[in-house]
Amino acid sequence: MYKQLVVVDHPLVQHKLTLMRRKETSTANFRRLLKEIAILMAYEVTRDLPLDKMPIETPLAMMDAPIISSKKLCLISILRAGNGMLDGMLDIVPSARVGHIGLYREPTTLEAIEYYFKTPEDIAERLCIVLDPMLATGHSAIAAIDRLKERGVRQIKYVCLLAAPEGLLMLEAAHPDVPIFTAAVDSHLDERGYIIPGLGDSGDRLFGTK
Ligand code: URA
Repeated sequence: MYKQLVVVDHPLVQHKLTLMRRKETSTANFRRLLKEIAILMAYEVTRDLPLDKMPIETPLAMMDAPIISSKKLCLISILRAGNGMLDGMLDIVPSARVGHIGLYREPTTLEAIEYYFKTPEDIAERLCIVLDPMLATGHSAIAAIDRLKERGVRQIKYVCLLAAPEGLLMLEAAHPDVPIFTAAVDSHLDERGYIIPGLGDSGDRLFGTK
């Protein structure tokens, strides 16, 4: 049904996601679990990074050994909940650059309104991995990817924790070239745009603001 969707169904990811969904999970545990899942998802989203060969010397012999080719990465956090996935991703790709896009949901239309945009200057030459735990209506994801494409970015991947079918359809229609990585596809959105069953407001749960 979705052409560019990868559901990361690794048992560790699924187990940790279940712990995150539980309403009694503390802020500290929620934050730690999101970071751990981001580490595991980083492994999946970087699976097709191109490799070069580099001559090295082991204690016993010379060899041509694989290294990640000089492809430049940029992690793009959609504020504020995207920050909850940044540290885990950076643990795996420590030399990646980081950009931030601030978007808030207009409460009546649920449209994404931009209030912040800061990325590396050479963003157009980088593979951008956009991070936001919740793909709900798809408005924020589409707006963020629109902005990256306006800046000339040609290769983009989108990573979330949970996706709603409505958001997946919207994002795929707007940006069919962008692969989507998620840990689960949930049932639907409620009338306020929350993912059901979901896990509530990811920003509030991550930062303890409610
Ligand atoms: N954003 C959230 O944090 N939670 C949802 O369920 C939907 C959007």
